[in-house]
Amino acid sequence: MPSFARRVASFGTTIFTEINQLAAQHQAVNLGQGRPDFDGPPEIIDAAVRALHSDTANQYAPSPGLPELREGIARHAGVFYDLDVDPNAGVIVTAGATQGIFSAIMGLIDPGDEVIIIEPYYDSYVPGVQMAGGKPVYVPMHPPAWTFDADELRAAFSHSTRAIILNTPNNPTGRVYTRAELQLIADLCIEYDVIVISDEVYEHLIFEGHQHVAIASLDGMFERTVTVGSAGKTFGMTGWKIGWVYGMPELVTGVWRAHQFITFAANHPTQAAVAYAFTLGNSYYEEYQALYSHKRELVMQVINAAGMSAIQPEGTYFIMGDFSEVFDGNDVEFCKYLIEQIGVATIPPSAFFSEKHRKHAENHVRFAFCKSDETLERAAERMRRLRT
Ligand SMILES: Cc1ncc(COP(=O)(O)O)c(C=O)c1O
Repeated sequence: MPSFARRVASFGTTIFTEINQLAAQHQAVNLGQGRPDFDGPPEIIDAAVRALHSDTANQYAPSPGLPELREGIARHAGVFYDLDVDPNAGVIVTAGATQGIFSAIMGLIDPGDEVIIIEPYYDSYVPGVQMAGGKPVYVPMHPPAWTFDADELRAAFSHSTRAIILNTPNNPTGRVYTRAELQLIADLCIEYDVIVISDEVYEHLIFEGHQHVAIASLDGMFERTVTVGSAGKTFGMTGWKIGWVYGMPELVTGVWRAHQFITFAANHPTQAAVAYAFTLGNSYYEEYQALYSHKRELVMQVINAAGMSAIQPEGTYFIMGDFSEVFDGNDVEFCKYLIEQIGVATIPPSAFFSEKHRKHAENHVRFAFCKSDETLERAAERMRRLRT
């Protein structure tokens, strides 16, 4: 009997699919997946509707992306990070950041290359590297502060290292890397001539007192970095699956060569709407941050209601709750218990670590707080049951 390729034999079902199914079965309040339960701004949706009726947007978009969207992405990188991005040769619009990351991996990594992955990681990185024939080399962040150890990072670099994949602001820890942390990574990348695939999809989800630093903006880094963004995250439209990759044309050409044969071009009408979204200006990002600062307070109430502890996230809409005071077992067992007995769904973060480093996360669960206030209040109410 024919069967699937060895390449995918170890992949299994993603943890999100598993948790979503279990949550639906038990009608749990779902704080699992980073999937907002409300829409992004109506004026951006209106722009998509206009595009659908414009007679120009219902056929293939240009393969690298709509020119006005590539210009918006380049302009945004100039305004926020002082980067000089070429909208024609230095930007590719992709089917979400996930495809941007995959295209970057396929376009920049050769079989046998080592790729450093900082853990916990977004779960597409490792299968992507494996499908390219690369070898993941893991560097864990450590609880409770979720920082990486400089010596462990240094030890991961060698002359076989081709690339490092990093994510700041970080899902699931809520950490925002400091300039000093990024400088350490940058110095090692320059010393070992390493490419950075920088996943910055939460670049605008930053809380007071913290600043997102784009690693491409550090001295000597633009020429060795491709930066990945997402309209799903920045404009609250995860279902549109529009993302992008930008950087120096020399590297972006590799990303584009892969992109052409993975999907050729991303969804056209929503690209037009995202181009419009990039014209909204600073007030949009300020309102977005205010909305999530409020939701961060509500999710802290969810954690406190349960008698759990957590460090306030510095960015993103995720928080890692430590359940060691309230439950005896590992993260997968606690997630199942929460869904089945308490009626709240979360994600076990051990899924975002290599086998060797799973223990770092085994007392934690990840809550997503991109949810309506009512959803978060309902979750807090249910979590109180944990104390009784
Ligand atoms: C760190 C990180 N990178 C990438 C993505 C994927 O973004 P997109 O939905 O645009 O593919 C996510 C989504 O949760 C994420 O958390």
